[in-house]
Amino acid sequence: MKLFIDASKKEGFINPEIYGHFSEHLGRGIYEGIYVGEDSEIPNTDGIRNDVLEALKEIEVPVLRWPGGCFADEYHWMDGIGPKEKRKKMVNTNWGGVTEDNSFGTHEFLRLCELLGCKAYINGNLGTGSAREMSEWVEYMTGTGVSPMTDLRKANGREEPWKIDYFAVGNENWGCGGNMRPAYYADLYRHTQTFLRNYDTKNPIKKICVGPGTDQVEFWTKKVLEACFEDAPKGSHGFMDYFTLHHYVFPDCWDHKGDAVDDAENLWYQSLHKARFIEDLIEKNEALLDQYDSEGEIGLCVDEWGGWYDVQKGTNPGFLYQQSTMRDALIAGVSLDIFNKHCKRVRMANIAQMVNVLQAVVLTEGSKMVKTPTFYVFKMYKGHKGGELVSSYFEGNPEIGPEDYRVPTVSASASVKDGALTLTISNLSKDSTVDLDIRVDNFKAGLKVVEGKIVNAANIADFNDFDKAEKVTEKDFNDFKLNGTSLGVQLPAHSVVMLKLQ
Ligand code: AHR
Repeated sequence: MKLFIDASKKEGFINPEIYGHFSEHLGRGIYEGIYVGEDSEIPNTDGIRNDVLEALKEIEVPVLRWPGGCFADEYHWMDGIGPKEKRKKMVNTNWGGVTEDNSFGTHEFLRLCELLGCKAYINGNLGTGSAREMSEWVEYMTGTGVSPMTDLRKANGREEPWKIDYFAVGNENWGCGGNMRPAYYADLYRHTQTFLRNYDTKNPIKKICVGPGTDQVEFWTKKVLEACFEDAPKGSHGFMDYFTLHHYVFPDCWDHKGDAVDDAENLWYQSLHKARFIEDLIEKNEALLDQYDSEGEIGLCVDEWGGWYDVQKGTNPGFLYQQSTMRDALIAGVSLDIFNKHCKRVRMANIAQMVNVLQAVVLTEGSKMVKTPTFYVFKMYKGHKGGELVSSYFEGNPEIGPEDYRVPTVSASASVKDGALTLTISNLSKDSTVDLDIRVDNFKAGLKVVEGKIVNAANIADFNDFDKAEKVTEKDFNDFKLNGTSLGVQLPAHSVVMLKLQ
């Protein structure tokens, strides 16, 4: 099998936000997973656990979306500010019916972003909120001068405004966000976004319009774009900067997703086939966006993606806690390659979710923490962030897997940044090693591999368990032979590899 790379053919800028994360008030995602409170015995900084912070810093989180998800459309931000003992408690109706004490609110979230050095993506409440509530939230966070919300922020101890990069008007409003019809949502979107003011005119907030879930392109994308662009002033690009897309991998089906560990191997090709389906969805949405926005002003934001399995036995079904195996590493590898390849339109993606929920990068149990296989893939892909995607194509990349769930044997993407070429390659074969000949044109006369890493494990179902040595980690990879501008690589079965060339 051959892979051709032409470093002179630049195909777009890989926005670092493609490597973004999502964290919702769901299960142990925020509480326990990130926020333990200042009085906890678990070492923390302003209530945020240090072990998780350190791990997340290692993968350089570029942007974090919060507070939901479905939770966002029932979240009233004013309940989460001011003295903690006075904050209102609520029932988290979406996720397990547990009490939400609002001890993690706007100040705590933005402190987390500061500690991570990442951008803030706030998801507003359209379902049970109002234009006023969202408008005041923006004023509270970013307001300058004298105004009621700015004064309130100052009274709560924060003098300086925060920088908010992204604000979404609702979440999945075709479903948990209100079961709205597309035209109705579009009208509410147009209305609400008007009142999201830019107090910091140098850093305008990017406004995010809710897009479709899997299979909803016809029903939602078409109609929302049509209504947002209808009679819209020229240059307003439908009043939006970003349009979202959600896609989860339910390996078997919604009612029986399969076990995260026990079914990792038998649902392998099904899972990877469904992960790769994101490319179809991206292309369909790209085509519709092109019709309205040929200049490419609107970014596509895949702000929920990942594998979703049956919850771990013995845990709260509403908490969506699952383990993570080599299958997840491959889901991450193929998805990130696809996002890279579509970086002209895909300008943000947020894996669901960062800690303890669905395809997490970090799992915690009391004071213990493990990094998942997905964590190591994010770490290996760091070199792509802010790079220029370069042309890459295969010769002879046969499809494998059962009839209904075919996938190409290998997935790859390549980018150039600061004189180095980052190449990521995944071998989707369950059980066969692949010999890959790589030719790199228009880069350097004599190639040098300055770094080689691999995420692999003896068994597909291997995972990193608490109190045990990690089985699925990033290791050095040396199984390559250099020959001028060519490189011969042996890719072990079910592996994700990164090569940095100079
Ligand atoms: O990530 C879990 C849930 O999946 C989110 O709350 C919702 O937006 C989606 O349906």
